[in-house]
Amino acid sequence: MSYYQDLLKQSQKLLAQFQLELNSLSLEELNIKYLGKKGLFNQLASQIKKLKKDEKKDFGQVLNQLKADLEQGLNKIQENENQSHQRLDLSLPGIKQNIGHLHPISQAIEEISQIFERIGFVRADFPEVDWDYYVFAALNMPDNHPARDEWETFFVDQTAHPKLGKMVLTTHTSNGQVREMERVKSQLPIRMINISRCYRRQSDNTHTQMFHQFEGLVVDKNINIQHLKGTIDYFAKEFFGAKTKSRIRPFHFKFTEPSFEVDFSCQICGGTGYLKNKHNKKESCRFCKSGWHEVGGAGMVHPNVLKAGGIDSKKYRGFAFGWGVERSYTLKQGLNIDDIRLFYSAEREFLEQF
Ligand code: PHE
Repeated sequence: MSYYQDLLKQSQKLLAQFQLELNSLSLEELNIKYLGKKGLFNQLASQIKKLKKDEKKDFGQVLNQLKADLEQGLNKIQENENQSHQRLDLSLPGIKQNIGHLHPISQAIEEISQIFERIGFVRADFPEVDWDYYVFAALNMPDNHPARDEWETFFVDQTAHPKLGKMVLTTHTSNGQVREMERVKSQLPIRMINISRCYRRQSDNTHTQMFHQFEGLVVDKNINIQHLKGTIDYFAKEFFGAKTKSRIRPFHFKFTEPSFEVDFSCQICGGTGYLKNKHNKKESCRFCKSGWHEVGGAGMVHPNVLKAGGIDSKKYRGFAFGWGVERSYTLKQGLNIDDIRLFYSAEREFLEQF
């Protein structure tokens, strides 16, 4: 066997040995043993000088290939090690799990219930699809009364009840008033908080066809407007913050007498109606313009409503209030949401902010 052939064999053996040892030696050991300065490859390559001229050329190519094979083998190990390192690196920050949260309106409902439960109100639940009687007629709004027009009603396509009239989607939570009076069967007092979905035929950037209201109803002996105002004040401070003021203005509802609209002082300008601009000059608050936000209605329960609920209106009096959850929530947050429909759009980017 010529020396050249011997070297060829040696190069084949070297590669075979390398492949055998790939899994038993570390990357560093392999590097030193095969490709180090005094490693097996260099030892073999140094023999080239002993070859004849044309053999040198051929053997040079063999050596190039051998080196490429060795390097490729080492690179593969390096890659594997990188990957397994990644898997094992306990110091890497964790991947944040998206765990979600309650819808902002559910959060508000929860908070509102708790505020009223703290002063002895009991949370009630009544049908969202109800008879005309509870939604209108029992609330002192007989058939065809023009006051009904204020509630843009969805009617359910179903035969009317002989006594209770048509079936409607509740336009307000006031349907709970007479229902609660019937439920307690003159076991007074009543301290009810009814929070529910309501529906009206209106959809624009400040209205959704489905929205939520909460309704308070108190019926007892010697109830007067101060109790109503006190309760509204309490809610204002608990829900919006200690500095919030409330005011009631005369209004008209068929089911309360007297009736009021309820305003809360603006969270953004603190009820002043002014904000300071960047030049420290007063300009009118762009959230409220007047210092106040109108939120809902209230009043002393009309004797006819007490009568409809089987309560002696000579002995007992009541107050009621009702307003929108969405509106209260956006005011609380000082949010000026361009389009309130976003709450029900299932837009995650919007909802994740709350
Ligand atoms: N139900 C009325 C509305 O939807 C609000 C209200 C509730 C008014 C209770 C008076 C008493 O506008």
